[in-house]
Amino acid sequence: MHKRARLILVLSALALLGLLVTPEVARADPPTPLNPLTSGGESIRNLFNLVLIPALVVFFGVEGAILYVVLRYRRRPGTVAEPAQIHGHTRLEVAWTLAPAAVLAMLFFWTVQTLESVQAVPPDALRVEVIGHQWWWEFRYPDLEITTAGELVVPVGKPVRFDITSADVIHSFWVPELAGKVDAIPGQVNVTWVEINEPGEYAGGRGRDEHLHGQCAEFCGMAHAYMLLRVKALPPAEFEAWVERQQAPAPEELTGLAAQGRDLFVNGFCQACHTIRGTSAQGSIGPDLSHFASRDLLASFLDNTPENLRAWIADPPAVKPGTKMPKYLLSPEEIDALVTFLKAME
Ligand code: CUA
Repeated sequence: MHKRARLILVLSALALLGLLVTPEVARADPPTPLNPLTSGGESIRNLFNLVLIPALVVFFGVEGAILYVVLRYRRRPGTVAEPAQIHGHTRLEVAWTLAPAAVLAMLFFWTVQTLESVQAVPPDALRVEVIGHQWWWEFRYPDLEITTAGELVVPVGKPVRFDITSADVIHSFWVPELAGKVDAIPGQVNVTWVEINEPGEYAGGRGRDEHLHGQCAEFCGMAHAYMLLRVKALPPAEFEAWVERQQAPAPEELTGLAAQGRDLFVNGFCQACHTIRGTSAQGSIGPDLSHFASRDLLASFLDNTPENLRAWIADPPAVKPGTKMPKYLLSPEEIDALVTFLKAME
C-alpha cells in the first residue's frame, strides 16, 4: 500500500474512534431521547428506530458491495485486457428506483402518523404556557394563576399541555426524556404534551439527580448555553400541595434583615423587572420571583443555595455571562438583606 493511502486510512480510523469516544468524555450520563418517559417520546423513539434499521441495512449493504467489488475485481499482475463494458440494465434500474420509493413512502406514512399522535393533546390536559426569554424559561399556569421560572413542575399521571412561544428570539424547548424539541417562536404558539407515569422511579433519581433536565436547543445569543430548565413531576397530592403553596400571597410578617430586604426589593431596582405577588413589586421583564425559595434552580442553571444567590446578586454577568440582569452597586449588608428576603419567599 502507498504511504499516503496508509496515512489516510489511519487518520480516518482515528476520526471514527474520536466520534465514538467524544460523547462519553463530554458527559458521563447525558440526557437521552432514546430512553423516553412519555408516550409521545416513545413514538418518536420508535420512529427513530424504524428509520435507523433500514438506513443501517442500506449503509452496510452499499459499503459492503463497494468493498467487495474493489477487492474482488482489483487489478492484478498479468491482467491487461479491459473488462467487459456494460451499458444500461432496464430491470435493475426500475428495481432500484421502485425499492427506495417504497421505503420512503413507508417512512413518510410513519412520520405523519407519529406527528399526529405526538400532537393529539388530550382535552383534559393541564395547560402550561412555556415562554422562552433571553436566557431563561417562564412557565405560566393560566388556569391555576401561577407563574414560575426555570423549574417546570407537573403532576404525575395527568396529561400536561405545553403552549410554547417566545418573548424575543427563537428558542427551542427540549427535555430529551419527555418529548421532541419544539421551537419557541415569537408571535406563534407551538403545542406539545406529555404524561409522566412513573412517580416512584422518576422522583427516585432517573438521570443525574432526581430532576429531568432540559435545555434551550436553538442558538439564541450569548447566554444560550446557560438556558437550562428542570422538570419536577410530583405525585398528585404533592402537586396539589405545591399549587396551594404557589397560589398563596407572599408572607407579610417579616422582621429584621428579611424586612430590610423586602423594602430594598420593592423600593429599589429589583421591582423594575421582577414581580413578587402580594407585594408592590410588579415588574415583568425578568422572572416572577413569587415563592422563589421553593425553587431548586437559580438563574436557570445554578442550585438555589444562599451562596449562589449571594454571588448572583452581587455580580450577575460574572456568574452568567450575557445575562440581562445588570450588576448594581450593593453593599454586602444590602446583599445579605436581599438574600434573606428572597429565601423567606417560600
Ligand atoms: Cu434560548 Cu438558546
